[in-house]
Amino acid sequence: MLTLAEIIHKYKALTDKHKRARPMLEMYEEIFKDYRDSSKVFEIGVSQGGSLLAWGKYFSQAQVYGLDNKLARCTFKTGDRIELVELDQSSKEELEVFGKRGPFDIGIDDGSHCWSHQILSFEVLFPQIRSGGLYIIEDIETSYKTHSSPKHWLKYDTGPISAMEYFRNLVDDLNFFGTGLNSQAGKEAEWTNVQKTVEWVMFRPNAIVIKKR
Ligand SMILES: C[S@@+](CC[C@H](N)C(=O)[O-])C[C@H]1O[C@@H](n2cnc3c(N)ncnc32)[C@H](O)[C@@H]1O
Repeated sequence: MLTLAEIIHKYKALTDKHKRARPMLEMYEEIFKDYRDSSKVFEIGVSQGGSLLAWGKYFSQAQVYGLDNKLARCTFKTGDRIELVELDQSSKEELEVFGKRGPFDIGIDDGSHCWSHQILSFEVLFPQIRSGGLYIIEDIETSYKTHSSPKHWLKYDTGPISAMEYFRNLVDDLNFFGTGLNSQAGKEAEWTNVQKTVEWVMFRPNAIVIKKR
């Protein structure tokens, strides 16, 4: 059985996943090794489609969905096990319509990398991940002002808080006395359904992984 690194190498002309520093591939090898028999996997962000081809080979029985608001760059059309879905991840409605195709074993967000899109996509699609499944957000470095030039960074700054702040708050809320209440001062609201179904949150270099309870 080929490793993910070997599979991604085959498609290296069509994806930048191998360029994203080795820790990203090492992380995927580690977290996906027990999920190779997954039946439904989606990735937001298709570009030329190389990563979808890789997921199709790695998850050899899975239906793989590639979601993107500009599918013209993809080098292939929808086929047997890889389906392209035109979708803008800033649209709650479009995400909800796609979510009806769940439950999914794995969801990956490698789309716009804009803060509010990362948060909205998680809030709409994490409920459609099966119990025990994983949701991954890539390129979380866009949460930091120093990521690149201010002009470039500003395009990611589409909401009041960054995705990193959102997930740090989530961890704070989940840790707060273990009471099922949010920790933010004066709020103490009950956990949302999303919060209730988080098993754990893992911060990795340039990525966040959330496991569904
Ligand atoms: C980094 S590329 C994806 C790379 C691909 N996952 C890979 O590993 O080869 C990001 C993609 O996100 C798409 N994108 C940007 N904004 C989006 C949005 N609002 N909704 C959906 N897709 C979006 C772009 O069109 C682009 O194809």
